[in-house]
Amino acid sequence: MELCSTTLSFSSSTPLLNFQNHKFPRRNFCHKISNPALPKPFLQNYGKPQTLIYEQKSTRLSTGAYRTIISAKAGRQSWDFGRFIKTLYFFNGPPSPAKFFDFLVGKLSSSSTSESVNSMGTSDIVLVAGATGGVGRRVVDELRKKGIPVRVLVRNEEKARKMLGSDVDLVIGDITKDSTLIPEYFKGVKKVINAVSVIVGPKEGDTPDRAKYSQGIKFFEPEVKGDSPEKVEYIGMRNLIKAVKNNLGLGRGKLLFGFEGDSYRQLSWGALDDVVMGGVSESTFQIDPNGSENGGPTGVFKGVLSSANNGGFTSIRTKNFSEPEDLSAYDGLEFRLKGDGRRYKVVVRTSADWDALGYTIGFDTEKGKWQSIRLPFSSLRPIFRAKTVSDAPPFDPSNVASLQAWLCC
Ligand SMILES: NC(=O)c1ccc[n+]([C@@H]2O[C@H](COP(=O)([O-])OP(=O)(O)OC[C@H]3O[C@@H](n4cnc5c(N)ncnc54)[C@H](OP(=O)(O)O)[C@@H]3O)[C@@H](O)[C@H]2O)c1
Repeated sequence: MELCSTTLSFSSSTPLLNFQNHKFPRRNFCHKISNPALPKPFLQNYGKPQTLIYEQKSTRLSTGAYRTIISAKAGRQSWDFGRFIKTLYFFNGPPSPAKFFDFLVGKLSSSSTSESVNSMGTSDIVLVAGATGGVGRRVVDELRKKGIPVRVLVRNEEKARKMLGSDVDLVIGDITKDSTLIPEYFKGVKKVINAVSVIVGPKEGDTPDRAKYSQGIKFFEPEVKGDSPEKVEYIGMRNLIKAVKNNLGLGRGKLLFGFEGDSYRQLSWGALDDVVMGGVSESTFQIDPNGSENGGPTGVFKGVLSSANNGGFTSIRTKNFSEPEDLSAYDGLEFRLKGDGRRYKVVVRTSADWDALGYTIGFDTEKGKWQSIRLPFSSLRPIFRAKTVSDAPPFDPSNVASLQAWLCC
């Protein structure tokens, strides 16, 4: 099985906000994201959720900036309208009240998701291109005799099933058309054997099963049938090599965010807290240049979680990917993270709409310990406004629009 990865890490830190005169203790948490030596993305957090009820007319940031608080009702904590608007703008640009207030109606609450799953297998499939040819079908036979799992890339399904058996693991593609060589075909594939060739046959013609060609073309005057050598041997081969190059490194996973070796992938994360429904939790996401387990950069998700004002969640969410991610060649997400012992949720959306169904799974963190958390796509559950949607379409990994990491009271 293959993974695509996002690196989130969480670590303890002081809160960014310095609330003045609060009468009850707060809890802070902190999560980090990625570094150059980290293979995959990760997440860290700290402290325990706790209900906060304190009256306060104003909040001072540690930078010294002041914020205006809209209301401060008895027994309730002041709600930060400015931060609400800021959140709205970060993810959506100018707010659309109808859409956003719809969102407020749905209270996103604690986990109704299943437990995290931290084991996924791997696969060693050999993909044989040109498996219906004289050489290709013999290669398939040999691999099968050795008990090696085989997948065949063919142009003609009927011909292939007749020749190789109806149960053959088969994908349809034409190497001269690169759009037909989709990432999913390479899922679980470790090696590719190419037996595709320009079709050569006797000028005088052959039987449907190419009996003359099988006897040996040297007995007949040959000619190229169908696509030219340039198209098959050059363009086709180039397409196949490109597809292999793009998709066969899947054993290492695909980096969605963070650092891996010399690679770095940026994702625009923003805090999305219960301020959107009247709560007062507050988090931030920042890059710590030296916070990773190797002393390199990592993303840090930190803040204050409060259940005041019927709130109780804090999260970071990516803006929608500029193009939806096709992760169909992968089996799940992997987070590299350092947490605080609390349980988090990941939400994967396949719609660019703000208030859309999310596919969700929870996972536990170990306090202060770097972990690789693997979340198979098969374990994601469709949730909309905190409720499981029983008739939701199955998760479509070919169309991933955004990611979100949650912490709830
Ligand atoms: N046969 C021999 O004795 C022999 C000996 C030494 C070396 N070789 C070399 O081995 C290679 C394969 O020879 P072969 O005899 O196996 O050839 P073949 O019997 O003519 O088979 C060619 C294979 O390539 C496939 N193919 C052709 N164009 C394709 C495309 N655009 N996309 C996907 N598949 C495509 C064909 O699929 P369809 O079934 O859909 O047409 C068929 O499976 C050649 O390079 C040949 O020179 C052959």
